Amino acid sequence: MSQFEYIKDIAKFGLENDQERLLSVLNELIEHSKKTKKLNFAIQLQSILKDAIKQQGTNTLTKVGSDNYYQKLDDREIAELILEKVTSDYTLENIIAEGSVKNELKFFIEEHQKIEILRRFELPVANKVLMYGPSGCGKTLASYVIAGELKKMMVVINLGAIVSSKLGETSKNLSKIFKKAAIEDCIIFLDEFDSLGKIRDYSQDHGEMKRVVNTILQLFDYLPQSSIVIAATNQKDMLDEALIRRFDNIIEFKLPNEKEIQELIALTLKNGVFSFDKKIIANKIIKECLGLSYYSIQKTLITAIKRSLFAAKEPEKKLSGKIDTQIWKELVEAEKQALNK
Ligand SMILES: Nc1ncnc2c1ncn2[C@@H]1O[C@H](COP(=O)(O)OP(=O)(O)OP(=O)(O)O)[C@@H](O)[C@H]1O
Ligand SMILES: [Mg+2]
Repeated sequence: MSQFEYIKDIAKFGLENDQERLLSVLNELIEHSKKTKKLNFAIQLQSILKDAIKQQGTNTLTKVGSDNYYQKLDDREIAELILEKVTSDYTLENIIAEGSVKNELKFFIEEHQKIEILRRFELPVANKVLMYGPSGCGKTLASYVIAGELKKMMVVINLGAIVSSKLGETSKNLSKIFKKAAIEDCIIFLDEFDSLGKIRDYSQDHGEMKRVVNTILQLFDYLPQSSIVIAATNQKDMLDEALIRRFDNIIEFKLPNEKEIQELIALTLKNGVFSFDKKIIANKIIKECLGLSYYSIQKTLITAIKRSLFAAKEPEKKLSGKIDTQIWKELVEAEKQALNK
């Protein structure tokens, strides 16, 4: 479309009060302007759009039956499917992982921080990431790190809930969410992505599953370059091969090794505010932690810190603390036993 055609559409939808189409043509114009190197104009337009959306959010009076009213009903429907909408302060410093995983995350973040360089050379932008691996190893955390580093809002979508409760409407709802996220420049985080594979169990006819998977494939294929989708699963083998292929980056999160456990402990001890009363025994327990997730190890350690703190004299006056290593040992053993049951 030429610029004049965009202007005609904008005038038409604006005068007709057709907000949804107005927003979508404005977004198209922004993308068009970026591609035709009118970056300043694109950025100005984008910020006008963002401000207007923010204003609408604070506008509480809505006339029943108005376009805005239907838009709000629509929003409410989507809101049920969105677990939360968050901003994040997490940075790469908050996550521990093997070098290659950290690098993957770093490069992904960099691509979006320097997206204009890629655009200038018309290089494709990686914007779809799949994170997989055992529970408690940092998949959700990594998505918060990406949101925090890029300073973007993130909508967390529980695919499990969508698929099980409103199977028939899953396709429609996913399309709505993707559209809204693109307009508001949010990251989409699809947790429990393997639920898609489970549609087979819920649905009598396989047509429904095909439809949802096809919707996702289409949404992925037509995703604007500046939008980001992160999917997480601990059952990658449940996923359709065609879906897996759509991701630009596939990152495996693993249980921590000894070095990573040590790093996790340093992080959890707030780099020296807390320390063990028996260092040698603590080092032995670290070896016993092998096989546990980051989450489990951190949980036992935080519990040990709290119990040691309360057992100390006048804990309210303390600025640092010694951890009773024996307490931690017992907690780790209990955690391992629970795992083996
Ligand atoms: N790699 C890590 N580095 C630092 N802390 C971690 C890491 N992995 C997990 N944690 C800690 O454990 C908590 C839970 O981890 P997280 O929610 O990211 O796990 P997950 O991989 O998404 O698990 P699930 O598959 O159950 O959703 C984090 O908030 C963090 O405190
Ligand atoms: Mg998670």
